[in-house]
Amino acid sequence: MSPHNPQTVVLVTGCSSGGIGHALAVAFADKNCHVIATARSLSSMSDLDHDHRFFLQELDVLSGESVFKVVMNCLEQFGHVDIVVNNAGVQCLGPLAELPLSAIQKTFDTNVFGSMRLIQAVVPHMAARKKGKIVNIGSVSALAPGPWSGAYSASKAAIHALTDTLRYELHPFGIDVICIVPGAVKSNIANSAMANYSQMPEWKLYKQYKEAIKNRANMSQGPRAASAEEFAKRTVEEVLKKNPPAWFSMGQYSTIMAILYHLPLFIKDYIIRKMMRV
Ligand SMILES: NC(=O)c1ccc[n+]([C@@H]2O[C@H](COP(=O)([O-])OP(=O)(O)OC[C@H]3O[C@@H](n4cnc5c(N)ncnc54)[C@H](OP(=O)(O)O)[C@@H]3O)[C@@H](O)[C@H]2O)c1
Repeated sequence: MSPHNPQTVVLVTGCSSGGIGHALAVAFADKNCHVIATARSLSSMSDLDHDHRFFLQELDVLSGESVFKVVMNCLEQFGHVDIVVNNAGVQCLGPLAELPLSAIQKTFDTNVFGSMRLIQAVVPHMAARKKGKIVNIGSVSALAPGPWSGAYSASKAAIHALTDTLRYELHPFGIDVICIVPGAVKSNIANSAMANYSQMPEWKLYKQYKEAIKNRANMSQGPRAASAEEFAKRTVEEVLKKNPPAWFSMGQYSTIMAILYHLPLFIKDYIIRKMMRV
């Protein structure tokens, strides 16, 4: 591969099959991009193997060493990275008063610091070329945080805020920063949330809410959730624009959550309490 390949080079984190990252990787490849598809384990994206459009790399966003190594491998392979998509993320279920702090920390370490690790690793290279796009995946859950997913919503609110600041700070270096805000989109998020949930201690004050807490895992995976493919196709169209938008939201609940965000708090509280029975 020539180090001066004219094709757009895109790095996506969390590309395990069945998730949004995988669908984004395929959608970028369908638009003629070279895609560095990354996941914690190569086996989770084995269907992309042998397709010359993908350069597969193992990347754990919790490890600075792993992030650095993958960025170096990409630069060696392609000479540059045009677009980075911080997609890797984990849900975290449980009442904030009883969630082990280690679970909250891991959520932030993955969703927030994981993104920052990769951003800090690629920005010097993008800034040197005065060109690049950083795409952070937020969530509508940060627009109207409800019960049982407080750690997750807070981590996504942090991503939204960091994205806004980065947009200003990276503007002088020609780097666009885009916040992609999914509503409910079909993926593996509920399964991985339940796998993490099974490690949680027995709730003390919240015994009676046990079922409600577990049900929160599936809230984004109902029959009206957008398909990951449809979501990815629209997202990629937006990201590849010459002047990409600062914010793009799509998927079930994206409109209602945007409305809730703008409502006075007492109305928002009333609606969320009714919906979530708290
Ligand atoms: N689906 C929705 O309705 C929805 C709504 C709002 C926002 N989002 C956001 O969209 C993004 C993608 O989620 P998804 O719905 O596609 O869920 P998903 O199917 O569970 O995918 C999450 C991806 O992140 C990866 N990941 C987790 N920890 C990682 C780590 N330490 N290093 C690298 N990769 C890691 C997972 O890898 P493994 O397979 O190895 O676990 C998986 O590939 C997340 O940021 C999520 O918060 C999703």
